[in-house]
Amino acid sequence: MSSNYRPVYHFSPQRGWINDPNGLVYFNGLWHLFYQHMPSETHWGPMHWGHAVSRDLTHWEHWPIALYPDQMGGIFSGSAAVVSQGDEHSELVACFTHASEISQVQSVAFSHDGGLTWEKYEGNPVLTLDRPEFRDPKIFRHGNRWLMVVAAGFEAQIYASSDLLHWTLLSGFPAPKSDWVWECPDLFELDGRWVLIASFIRPGSAVDDGHGSYYWIGDFDGAHFTPETDILPLTFGPDDYAAVSWSNAPDERRVIIGWMSKWAYAATTPTADDGWRGAMTLPRDLSLRGDHLIQNPSPEVFERRGEGVTFDENRIPFEGDAYELEAEIDISKLTQTQVGFRLRVGNGEATRVFYDTIQREMFIDRSQSGHVTFHSAFSGRFHDPLEVEGDVLKLRIFVDRCSIEAFVQDGELYGPMLVFPSLNSQKTEFFGQGARITKGVIYPYKAESKMGLDQNSHGWANGNLHYNGALSH
Ligand code: FRU
Repeated sequence: MSSNYRPVYHFSPQRGWINDPNGLVYFNGLWHLFYQHMPSETHWGPMHWGHAVSRDLTHWEHWPIALYPDQMGGIFSGSAAVVSQGDEHSELVACFTHASEISQVQSVAFSHDGGLTWEKYEGNPVLTLDRPEFRDPKIFRHGNRWLMVVAAGFEAQIYASSDLLHWTLLSGFPAPKSDWVWECPDLFELDGRWVLIASFIRPGSAVDDGHGSYYWIGDFDGAHFTPETDILPLTFGPDDYAAVSWSNAPDERRVIIGWMSKWAYAATTPTADDGWRGAMTLPRDLSLRGDHLIQNPSPEVFERRGEGVTFDENRIPFEGDAYELEAEIDISKLTQTQVGFRLRVGNGEATRVFYDTIQREMFIDRSQSGHVTFHSAFSGRFHDPLEVEGDVLKLRIFVDRCSIEAFVQDGELYGPMLVFPSLNSQKTEFFGQGARITKGVIYPYKAESKMGLDQNSHGWANGNLHYNGALSH
């Protein structure tokens, strides 16, 4: 099926398949995004680390593949960090899983040119464990040593090292259910507390709900994580998996991004005829409100706004497939139970984002969104409890060709969802009799070719970073 589902302001690969974000590190003014990648096919295969960089988290520039599979296996998920900063001695490290059919072990690679090229350490692997599932190391600096949180089957483990090459086990942290398998853990300090993020394979649960991202807020003493909350869902939408955060982000920001798909149907989404499959969510800045994680779009995203079009409850004079909708809705005089928006409307299709005042839940519903039959688990609606304080419902909804992401009540809930409507389904409608829109603006987001970095005829040139297009394997 030929389409035009290519996102305008979300990251997607030039060609081939992607899944998890990897190696997220901010260095020398660039946000590095590595990712699980199969360049030659639109399905999963021997994994590479693809690579892109951005100055503003929204214009991405494709860089050469950073890590190729080798005789130890494919390059599974992992992280990156700054080892030493400043002048030509700067060093970045990537810590990843070498995965073969018989083993999963942790390895490292180093870069001395700002992340453009990578050399795998010749003594790899640096950490092994006698378990079939052992992957997705996230490394970070803590005090005067390195720590790693890594998925080890039914538990996450924390290790310490002074040199990134020798690691000692400090603690284990179990999955909430004995048969949930960890993937892609992340552990970081936020507003004086600690957050442990986890993705889980949940065997035995319904196919459309078999994977999910979660978090706990708690305390960390340098060796053990102690939760102070129950396990909480990271999103109420289906399409944010393996979400992890950037290391070394400026201004003490904690920015996360996830893979905007789900294993159940990821290999069947209708973009393969265009030669690519998979995209990332919007980058989100995290903060805490009480015992909850607050997620808002990273402020850089707003730089993509075109001229705003205002609307009210009677009329939305806008059509498009790449935009941000901002609404504050007074629901005190609502006479129906549901209030919200129909998006990508046309051809008998609509994706709904709405609040149900009886159920007191926020919903996103793609059952009538367009192409939904390519996998039996795709169609459906997704929801989470929500109390609307003061009868003001605040929605910020991002539409980008094949996705819809809803930020609710200033980041209290985040719901990302893939959709594949007909290309000309571009209307937006409001529903909720008696409700009044006190603020309504739609900002179109433009498809710009601007890359954010300087480009010359040979490839990329950026200060001391040069890619002349001559790298090949
Ligand atoms: C999560 C995951 C990781 C693994 C990678 C393989 O989506 O299964 O655990 O490293 O994908 O591509």
